[in-house]
Formats: sequence, C-alpha cells, structure tokens
Amino acid sequence: MIAPFNDIETTASLIKKHADTLGAVIVEPLCRTIPPRNGFLQALRELTRRHDIPLIFDEVVTGFRLGLGGAQTHYDVTPDLCALGKTISGGHPLGVVCGRADILDSADPSRISRGDAVRLSGTYMNNPISSAVALAVIRELEQPGVYEGVVEKGTRLMQGLEKALHDAGIAARVCGEPTVFQPWFTDQDIRDHRSTLKQDHKMSLRFVDLLLDRGIVKAHEKFFVSTAHGDDEIAHTLDAIQDAAHELRKTPVTLPRGNPVMLSAGRQTRAPARSRARRPPASPRALGPPAPSAPAAPRTRAPGRR
Ligand SMILES: Cc1ncc(COP(=O)(O)O)c(C=O)c1O
Repeated sequence: MIAPFNDIETTASLIKKHADTLGAVIVEPLCRTIPPRNGFLQALRELTRRHDIPLIFDEVVTGFRLGLGGAQTHYDVTPDLCALGKTISGGHPLGVVCGRADILDSADPSRISRGDAVRLSGTYMNNPISSAVALAVIRELEQPGVYEGVVEKGTRLMQGLEKALHDAGIAARVCGEPTVFQPWFTDQDIRDHRSTLKQDHKMSLRFVDLLLDRGIVKAHEKFFVSTAHGDDEIAHTLDAIQDAAHELRKTPVTLPRGNPVMLSAGRQTRAPARSRARRPPASPRALGPPAPSAPAAPRTRAPGRR
C-alpha cells in the first residue's frame, strides 16, 4: 500500500483502515529531496505508535548526511527501525539496520533453536573491512565543525542554484537540504512524488548534460555535497550552474545526449525512434565478416553516444 508523502489525512485514513494487517510503515523522511511539512513525520509517529505498528525510516540517503543523527535527529522524530547505507562506509559496501532492541532480537541467532527467530544471512554480512571503514568515517564526522562546513557550502550552492535559474527566467523549485538537493523544473508546488511528475523532464536532463559539458558531474536527480568539496569546487560549480542556466534558457530543449532513456510523465521510456532510426541498418553482411570482393565498411559510431 502506498500513501502520499506530506498528506497526513490520506495516510491516516489508510493506516486506520488497515491497522490490523499492516506489518510496518516505512518512509524516507526526506522523500528523495522533498522535506516533510506541517509535522507530517510527527503525526506519522503518533499514529503508528497509537496503532502499535513499527515505523521504519529509510535513511540510506539521509543517514550521516543531514548530520550525525541523520534525518531522525534533524527532524526530531525517532522511528522504531532505521536502515542505513552509502555514507556510513565511505563507498564500501555496507548496510545497517538499527532500532528497537525487542524487534532486532527477533534476528538473534541464539533463538533459532527455539524456532522463533528471523533468519538473516548474506554474503557481505558483518564484513570486517566495511565495518572498520564505517567506524573510521564516523570518527571523522565527529570532528568539530565538519557538518557546519558542509551545510554552509551546501547552502551557498543551493541558494546560488535557485538564483541562477531565477535570473535566467527558468521556472524551477529547488528542494531538499543543503547536503542533498535538486532543482525541479516546474513552477508548481513540490510536496510529494506525484507533484514531481509535473516537471519538465527533458529540461532537467538537458541541465545535467550542460553541467557535464562544464566539468560538473551530477546524476539526473540530486546534488550531493561532501567534506571533499572546498571553496574552489563550490565557486567552480556555481559558475558552471550560472552558465548552464543561461544556455538552457537560450537554446531550445532538444533531446539530451548520453541518456539512453528519457523520462516522460515520470515513466521511463525507450530512447525515441529518431535516434534509433539514425543508426546504420543492420544487414546480414554487417553482422558477419565482409564479403571477399568488397572492402570492409568503416565502423560507424552510433549517433548520440558518448
Ligand atoms: C532511499 C534509498 N533507500 C535504499 C536504497 C538502496 O537500495 P538497494 O539496496 O536496493 O540498492 C537507495 C539507493 O539508492 C535509496 O536511495
């Protein structure tokens, strides 16, 4: 069952209706880059507690990014269980589940013989290298001023991005927190997944390409700010953002390069027929060795690929 983020009325009515059969309620506390509003998380906490349903936060993105205590400290709401990954281990593979002891105890291997344990096993479970790295990362993040530094730099980037798009006359909403944010190319309010579908996806992808041309690597969604970013990187990124925003405004939005799929109304679709049609037609000869009497045809790069 899926409930809309930031809509506590609909979410509450679903939970109340199905309370007897719900095993848990799981939410990304910063939903992609959409912050919770009007006490949404607090209300969800209160509701799940009242119905005795475990509340799980997916903090794979927000854990150690919004602060040492993740989104739950940042938004001051404590879930029953929490999933962590990514930032915890400096790029090494590690996933962590933490939370209420009485729930975690159900995975205690000593209970297996009693027959009431949840069995957990996996190839990389308890991986010592990833665990050692995670402890080292946490020691670094605990140093004074670390989070103040990334938040200050992220705020500069976020505000600069907002201003650049506004000055270029591009309708966009910059959403998120200073260490993880993104522009949504729409003048509509962004409050849940459905509202993000109203953005101009082609424009969003083209912005990514224009930034790449200027030396800034950004995924098709978010900007992530880390401790590795210094003042020079922030200044360079802000210059690139300004330049890319003006270019985006100046030139018509064409199909983005380097993206094998385009997003249309929120659904991933195959690359458009136009780019496929421009590829050389496959013929039996092209697939096999060249005929002895004819010179081999030069190889043609597929258009639009990088
Ligand atoms: C919010 C969130 N949760 C969890 C994951 C991890 O998913 P998986 O373990 O399937 O890669 C991701 C990966 O990007 C994520 O963004």
